[in-house]
Amino acid sequence: MQEDAYLKCVNPKCGLEYPITSTNVQCESGHVLDVKYKNKPSSKLKEIFYQRRNSKGSIFNESGVWRFRELINFCQIDTENNEECSKFLVSLDGAEGRQSKPYQMSKVAEFIGINKEGLWLQPEGYNPSGSFKDNGMVTAVTHAKLVGAKKIVCASTGNTSASAGMFAANEGIDCDVYIPAGQIAPGKLSQAYQFGAQIIQVEGNFDDALKQSLDDAKNHNGYTVNSVNPFRIEGQKTIPIRALEYLNWEVPDWIVYPGGALGNTSSCGKALMELYEWGWINKIPRIAVINSDGASTLSDLYNGKFEDEELRWNKGNPNTELISRYYDHLDKEGIRPKTKATAIQIGRPANILKGLRALEFTNGVSTTVTDSEMLDGMSVIGLNGFDCEMASGASVAGIKKLMNEEIIKKDETVVGILTGRQKDAMIPVDYHNNSKNTFANPPKN
Ligand code: F0G
Repeated sequence: MQEDAYLKCVNPKCGLEYPITSTNVQCESGHVLDVKYKNKPSSKLKEIFYQRRNSKGSIFNESGVWRFRELINFCQIDTENNEECSKFLVSLDGAEGRQSKPYQMSKVAEFIGINKEGLWLQPEGYNPSGSFKDNGMVTAVTHAKLVGAKKIVCASTGNTSASAGMFAANEGIDCDVYIPAGQIAPGKLSQAYQFGAQIIQVEGNFDDALKQSLDDAKNHNGYTVNSVNPFRIEGQKTIPIRALEYLNWEVPDWIVYPGGALGNTSSCGKALMELYEWGWINKIPRIAVINSDGASTLSDLYNGKFEDEELRWNKGNPNTELISRYYDHLDKEGIRPKTKATAIQIGRPANILKGLRALEFTNGVSTTVTDSEMLDGMSVIGLNGFDCEMASGASVAGIKKLMNEEIIKKDETVVGILTGRQKDAMIPVDYHNNSKNTFANPPKN
């Protein structure tokens, strides 16, 4: 049943393959894995995906993830029967990805100084747990179910834990979440509690929590649902796929993401590589990854700010020693990732290699923005009637910065991903109480 899909090491010199039922997140030599498909999906599916927008009572058509199920079909399902699909595919009644699509937001366009018609912003915060994570969590938990896992495990800056907890509760499996103590938004922590997840507080930052959670998964039979899990990446591919579909497959010039662990960057790159290889698109958008300037590993390494070497995927031959030396340097100097946008307060992006591959394939760029720029980005999105969290403001702030630097040109089309919904109520309150802020609307007495 499962022979069309398999796992393959991303390192072209290694290329080890595993059956789809493997739960390894790395090959024996320690390289990350991709889900691969032998069959090439026909572009005739574009019409079928469009027709499924009229769901005809199927939750798998309603779902913004499973609507594209042929492109992420690692379960090898060949049926439209809802009951059959339900045996395999995890879904919160079709809610994941259902409401996310690109919108034009005139006030944001004006703030950035870009043509209103050229700017699309896709809020992923209207997912059932409030962030883009649900796109990839349904596919990871689908795989967990396929292999009969009883407990899923993750580390999180907040949103992953909320999403994992929600789907675990819905599937009746256990969920352990490792969080950096005192560093996650209260709204995210409360979601994990609400969904019955077991919280494990780690003294340290996200990078420390991830290490502990991976050890725990390995030693205690847990199934890891962080974005190092290749099945997470499969579901998150539907974020750019939905954007492309809503733009009638007219490929934008840019797709812009905030950058943390780089799961999004990796999945966007994989989606574009596949669509291009299958002949579904004939132009490749450039990916821009926006780090916070307090957690800027990718931007530092990619732009040659460490040891004057620009780190590249280099056709599968990246200088991984440079990365190790950068991490040693952070440790030696006591440099810890620091930003008010805790969602992206990550110093060691677990998906850096796949992220680099995505940037190489798309001729991508990476840059940084300040906390105050992110807050302005978040706030101007609000003025268009859309809610998002501070990390998502990085997309808007990054587009503005790249336009000012003339890297993004005025007449280009840009899709920015707004990754999550506001879960830290005091951030907008504090912003608006300070009349010095660009969009502040302080209360009257
Ligand atoms: N935006 C939000 C709202 C996030 O929660 C995250 C990551 C990112 C952006 C970065 O995305 O890792 O794909 O580069 N949050 C994680 C978590 C790591 O645990 O919730 P990435």
